[in-house]
Amino acid sequence: MDKKSKSPAKALTIFKSKEKKVFITNSANETRTLGTFFAALLKKGDIVFFTGDLGSGKTTFIQGIIGNFVQKKYIRSSSFTIASEYEAADFKLFHLDLYRLAPSNIADIGIDDYLYSNNVALIEWAQRLKGSDNEATWIVESKYIDDNKREIVIRCSRDYTRLSLS
Ligand SMILES: Nc1ncnc2c1ncn2[C@@H]1O[C@H](COP(=O)(O)OP(=O)(O)O)[C@@H](O)[C@H]1O
Ligand SMILES: [Mg+2]
Repeated sequence: MDKKSKSPAKALTIFKSKEKKVFITNSANETRTLGTFFAALLKKGDIVFFTGDLGSGKTTFIQGIIGNFVQKKYIRSSSFTIASEYEAADFKLFHLDLYRLAPSNIADIGIDDYLYSNNVALIEWAQRLKGSDNEATWIVESKYIDDNKREIVIRCSRDYTRLSLS
């Protein structure tokens, strides 16, 4: 799954500032699993931006993240909902999909409350938030390769180290 190291779990243990890691997944399940490993890196206050075309796997990856924190069998795509909220032990998880919003309406949904409330914000279609890339702790960019294959690039904007995998 990971291009560079043997296990994605290991690759997702340590990130250095501005580091970028590239993964290739061969199924939706692999993308979900990658999201689950990535979830272990998240801390209160983190902002994660997801970019990539429709169908590139953003929601699938986010299902993996949320599944790591919330015991819920199925997390629906938020394509029809702008914001969903989940309770983790130490913070709330906000999942937002900005696809349907015009840039001028983004302020109306109170985006700042989601981004800066010291919880965790997962923002799909983050390219709508022009000029705010440096606000994100993480940027996850997904790309369609073929029917079952996706490239997923994870970038970290600051030094980020976990001591061990739980
Ligand atoms: N490797 C893969 N990773 C993620 N999704 C995949 C993969 N292979 C096939 N798929 C399919 O592609 C679609 C991705 O949809 P979704 O995650 O909702 O994308 P987005 O949120 O970017 O629009 C799903 O139907 C999923 O089953
Ligand atoms: Mg989506």
